Amino acid sequence: MTFKHFILGLSITFALPWFFVIAVPYAKMSQTQAVSFVEDIDEQTGVYTTKRAGRVLDGAKVYGAEGCYLCHSQLVRPTYAGSDVWRLDWAGDANHPDGDTRRETNVYDYAGERFAQIGLTRTGPDLSNVGVRIRKYAKEAEISPEEWAYMHLYNPRHKLTTSWSVCPSSTQLFRTCDVQGQGSLEALSVDSIKDGEQLIPKESARALVSYLLSLKKDNKVPASIDYSR
Ligand code: HEC
Repeated sequence: MTFKHFILGLSITFALPWFFVIAVPYAKMSQTQAVSFVEDIDEQTGVYTTKRAGRVLDGAKVYGAEGCYLCHSQLVRPTYAGSDVWRLDWAGDANHPDGDTRRETNVYDYAGERFAQIGLTRTGPDLSNVGVRIRKYAKEAEISPEEWAYMHLYNPRHKLTTSWSVCPSSTQLFRTCDVQGQGSLEALSVDSIKDGEQLIPKESARALVSYLLSLKKDNKVPASIDYSR
């Protein structure tokens, strides 16, 4: 093998995966066209949109900045590549009032987000439909979904959440301040806070919680891009 062959081989070894794993998907996904419902098949008309704006998208930035994607994926894999669709409440809600909403992820699920947070590892559960689960946990604990989410962020091992959790606590998203008047309605009831002080979520925590609660894929998808089996 000559040096020329070696360099050529090395270049091809890197160029081919780069082309198929980066260049082709990027070109395909950055040119997504709006998909319309077909009346005869979908029983509705109009364009398929995922309504997400404002604070939810700010929350997506906090999600990225806090590194949640290091342990959490947001990708319900196609059934030929994994069993995600059948994992309890991962792919949707099997008992949704409108019927079974479980489905695979499609590219529109990340609409409006700067980065598609598909995640690096699955140390923690997939969060594609964590909004569905948080509402269930909150109902069981008889608190609001927001309260459950704040509790989980402040202390994932709080008695109202999961005592054994290894999800890191994000105390940096909260601040303590003196109680004024009746105190903040958003104040978290945590024992470690001194009398006369209250613990309240910062704007970043509010955005992140709005984002987490928005993660529920229960809107109707046009049959042409609905890959649920
Ligand atoms: C070190 C890895 C790790 C990081 C980083 C991490 N998590 Fe977790 N997370 C976990 C694990 C493991 C669980 C499962 C245990 C549990 O339910 O608390 C979990 C659970 C959760 C749950 C409950 C999910 C469910 O269905 O019960 C939520 C919500 C959550 N994490 C949000 C976040 C957010 C938001 C961030 C970023 C601020 C984050 N996590 C960062 C590991 C991590």
